[in-house]
Amino acid sequence: MGSQWTKDNVYRKAMRDGYRARSAYKLIDINERFNVIRPTDNVVDLGAAPGSWLQVLKTMTEGQLCGVDLNPIVSLENVITITGDFTDPAVQAKVREAMPLVNVVVCDASPHLSGAKAYDQARVMGLNEEALNFASTLLKQGGNLVMKSFQGSDFNDLLALVREKFYSVRVIRSTATRRGSAECYIVAKNFIGEGNDDRKRRE
Ligand SMILES: C[S@@+](CC[C@H](N)C(=O)[O-])C[C@H]1O[C@@H](n2cnc3c(N)ncnc32)[C@H](O)[C@@H]1O
Repeated sequence: MGSQWTKDNVYRKAMRDGYRARSAYKLIDINERFNVIRPTDNVVDLGAAPGSWLQVLKTMTEGQLCGVDLNPIVSLENVITITGDFTDPAVQAKVREAMPLVNVVVCDASPHLSGAKAYDQARVMGLNEEALNFASTLLKQGGNLVMKSFQGSDFNDLLALVREKFYSVRVIRSTATRRGSAECYIVAKNFIGEGNDDRKRRE
């Protein structure tokens, strides 16, 4: 997180509350409104460093948690942490081995932004699609996905892909997101399951 994050009030509140990042409040807000994480869910967190979502997840579920990030995540009790790129098949295999049964995938990952808008948006869409495809190999039928995205070019195409895989899909802004930011979260519930698409069978 860059130095701008260290200056704002929400960051200071997060530090006082013992969270590693201000993003903690985004997941709290999303779960209060959409009830995506149930008390025994096993959850995989993609792009989890420094670990504030994992801290929040620990209060939401007694299930197994696993966080993956390019950067090492300072350890948290009873949480599996994996350092690596979640788009890398070898890293994906490690996650699958550690987490044979996954109810929820959350993804707050964002690539390092260059400042070139079109290029950055294309990279975000690419990373989102990778996260969606990986989540589809992990999730149990009926599972949920929360994924950070940015509204802009190709966002509707991404949304169409999510809608093919989940029965319920919403795009929301977290109350903890900075005003003026294009950041949004895709809240996708009730994973259809590979090969279980009744809607497709009826067509
Ligand atoms: C906004 S931070 C996540 C904050 C986290 N939710 C928290 O509450 O502490 C985004 C993270 O995504 C990670 N990331 C981006 N691309 C990734 C990838 N391909 N594989 C793993 N992590 C990735 C970055 O390293 C960064 O730590």
